[in-house]
Amino acid sequence: MIQVISGTNRPGSRSRVLSDLIANLYRTEGEACEVLDLCELPWAELNGSYYDQPKPESLRSQIEKVNRADGLVLVVAEYNGSFPGALKHFIDHWEYPKSFEFRPVSFVGLGGRFGGLRAVEHLQQVFGYRNAFIYPERLFIQNIWNVLKEDGLEDALVNELLLKQVKGFASFIRALRVEKLDCNSRQASPEKG
Ligand SMILES: Cc1cc2nc3c(=O)[nH]c(=O)nc-3n(C[C@H](O)[C@H](O)[C@H](O)COP(=O)(O)O)c2cc1C
Repeated sequence: MIQVISGTNRPGSRSRVLSDLIANLYRTEGEACEVLDLCELPWAELNGSYYDQPKPESLRSQIEKVNRADGLVLVVAEYNGSFPGALKHFIDHWEYPKSFEFRPVSFVGLGGRFGGLRAVEHLQQVFGYRNAFIYPERLFIQNIWNVLKEDGLEDALVNELLLKQVKGFASFIRALRVEKLDCNSRQASPEKG
């Protein structure tokens, strides 16, 4: 299962609309795919008590989705020159190494003039530090408000690059799995890790 993480808890966010669209593209490619929406996290309970303590079931089930994912697609908007704090707060509750290490991760940025470049690059530092398999072809959608419309992404080049990323990331995941290099294969057969 590929998890597309809609990287903000802003109600009505463009990240969520884009995440749904991306998830459909993966499904069209024959990949099982879900959207993990940060709006669905139990924010009222995320008061700091659960960093290294047993987590409430509603949070644990979302982290389990990450831990079981064959790949993560991070849809990340630029907020004040970085990625949204809500996303970092969620990530800081994940389990290391299980949630991160050798997990294939792909990035789609959205924002103004720079298309979420800073947001994605800051997030790449986090996943690079935590030993994820970062898919190298990132996508940046500039001036998202001009591109994302009711009927989808109204930019031929963006659509082309997105489809290329979807196909490429799906085959990146498959290639790692064939060699049993990805997180889930290693966890299933630790002696090969
Ligand atoms: C709190 C906040 C901060 C933002 N800061 C930036 C920024 O630094 N650079 C930028 O290009 N766009 C910035 N934007 C614009 C967003 O990237 C754009 O509105 C995008 O759609 C937000 O994603 P969302 O709709 O998923 O919340 C900001 C938006 C919000 C809500």
